Amino acid sequence: MCGIFGVVAKKGDIAKKLLIIARRLQYRGYDSLGLATYLDGEIDLRKDMGTVESVVEALKLDNMKGNIGIGQLRWSTFGKPSKINAQPHFACDKDLVGAHNGNIVSFYQTKENLENEGHNIISQNDGEICVHAAEKHYNKTKDMVKGIMGGIKEMEGAFAFICFHKDTPETLYATKMGSSLVIGLGEGENYIASDLPSILPLTNKYVPLNDGEIIEITADTYKIYSAKDGSEIKRDPRVTDLSAEEAVKGKYDYFLTKEIYEQIEATEKLAYGLESDVLDELVDKLANADIAYLVGCGSSFNACNVGSYYLNNLAGVLSIPVIGGRFFEEFKNIKPTDKMVILNVSQSGETKDIINTINFAKPKGFHILGMINVPGSTVERMSEAYAYIGAGIERSVAATKTYTNQVLLFLILAARVGHKKGNISDKEFEELKNEIHNISKLVEKTINDSVDKAKQLAKELSKTDAMSLLGYGITHGVALEGALKIREINYISAEAMYSSEFKHGPLSIVEDGYPVIYIVAPEDKYYVTSHISEVECRDGRPIVIGENIKGLDKHVKPGDYFEIPKSSQLISPILAVIPLQLLALYMSIERGIDPDYPRNLSKTLTVD
Ligand code: M6R
Repeated sequence: MCGIFGVVAKKGDIAKKLLIIARRLQYRGYDSLGLATYLDGEIDLRKDMGTVESVVEALKLDNMKGNIGIGQLRWSTFGKPSKINAQPHFACDKDLVGAHNGNIVSFYQTKENLENEGHNIISQNDGEICVHAAEKHYNKTKDMVKGIMGGIKEMEGAFAFICFHKDTPETLYATKMGSSLVIGLGEGENYIASDLPSILPLTNKYVPLNDGEIIEITADTYKIYSAKDGSEIKRDPRVTDLSAEEAVKGKYDYFLTKEIYEQIEATEKLAYGLESDVLDELVDKLANADIAYLVGCGSSFNACNVGSYYLNNLAGVLSIPVIGGRFFEEFKNIKPTDKMVILNVSQSGETKDIINTINFAKPKGFHILGMINVPGSTVERMSEAYAYIGAGIERSVAATKTYTNQVLLFLILAARVGHKKGNISDKEFEELKNEIHNISKLVEKTINDSVDKAKQLAKELSKTDAMSLLGYGITHGVALEGALKIREINYISAEAMYSSEFKHGPLSIVEDGYPVIYIVAPEDKYYVTSHISEVECRDGRPIVIGENIKGLDKHVKPGDYFEIPKSSQLISPILAVIPLQLLALYMSIERGIDPDYPRNLSKTLTVD
């Protein structure tokens, strides 16, 4: 997703600071980069397609001078990736420069209106519309806050916008209208950026912003105004204890490889927080609920799929996994009761489909809860109670350790709620606790046992362009997650479904050697053996991921059985996803794809 940022400073190297933020936002957008600074009456705008480092080098961005500057990293939505569509953009008279993040859904209509009024719009990018709309109203009022206020009314969409004008070269302006944005406060300099972690090397003092606000900052002041009526809103700064630590690949070739291995440490840390009082509030809210909607997108939705099994079976809370974008369509006529909660699961805490759910459900009276990885995110701020999954920074676009910790946190919450409600005896809780505390060792063993097999299978499947992944009961979510990983970083078709469903149509795809991966939990042998046989007898290629289940190996050829360590039914889905992550990774490398940066994708999706 695009990232926008700006710095205004009394003195110092503006380019250096802008690039610190840009490098930390690069996970959001990679099609192009642009910076604009102001010096001695001139705006210097440089932008092009490419990675941060390639554009910095080609355009000498590190030489840019001035006391004020803005920048943008683009992930294309409106207009192809190209130099002309890169941001920031000038307004007609080149006195105003600005950039946006998000989507202007009224792009064609607003563009036509502005062109009819004489604006010269040169790109196909909706960010340019924001600049011209602000220019139109600035020219009438000679006031940038009013210029932005008027501009907002010309457009429909969800976005954040940042700009500065030659007339006020010591002031940065911005607005938050649905996309994330934060103010950072430094010593003799201030910042605006799409997220808090991007400014942490510069400051830990920040001011959170809400939708519908316009911001005006100088090197030592900040003001917030209502975008509705221009009235000033007072808000004190906060201090975060988040660290500025940045992820590095270290000895690994890819972030993805590193993050798969980091599951050992991530699960260990989370497991030992099982009884921590930081979870008390969330446990209480869930224990008090009759119905929990578990809302997530992509991998986070897949974690909800396993999570609902835990909450239904251990906690006795009726739990329904719902895809983020679907909640407000499907449940729009449900009247919330005090015993209904929505648990929003999002690594970033910024995914637009999740924010849409909250914006729809909160005013209706639903209780909003959150499970997030990035502290200080929008989901955190909009939730009555929340918990961190504590997976650390995840850089690879493909989620691995965050997915695993989401599932583990679901298990911990379900165990705590079940114990609190008396659904689980003290003895059962103790046993489960011991298993959870032991999980990182099993994760480590699963990784070590699976690497070579995954490499070998990746070679064999390197020409395959379709496969199926089947899960049953508790492992259905694992099949969904495995298929998403394989599709996401291999650009092939990998279809996941409930294993008993396969015979109801999809079975017709099976021919000689067609790969079907079964994820089998220990107690599901009875049904799954039949499902495997149905493929085996049609000359398909069943591949099994599961613990050593007597007799199951007879149905697959040697090498096609990924044996995971022995554990209980509840732990097995957490282990079973690992061979699939490794398979996706090595298949991707076999195909010559960089698994960290799959084409067309962005780590955080802040658009509809
Ligand atoms: O930040 P979120 O957890 O809300 O992100 C949701 C999805 O966009 C994300 O899980 C996506 O599916 C991953 N790239 C999958 O690997």
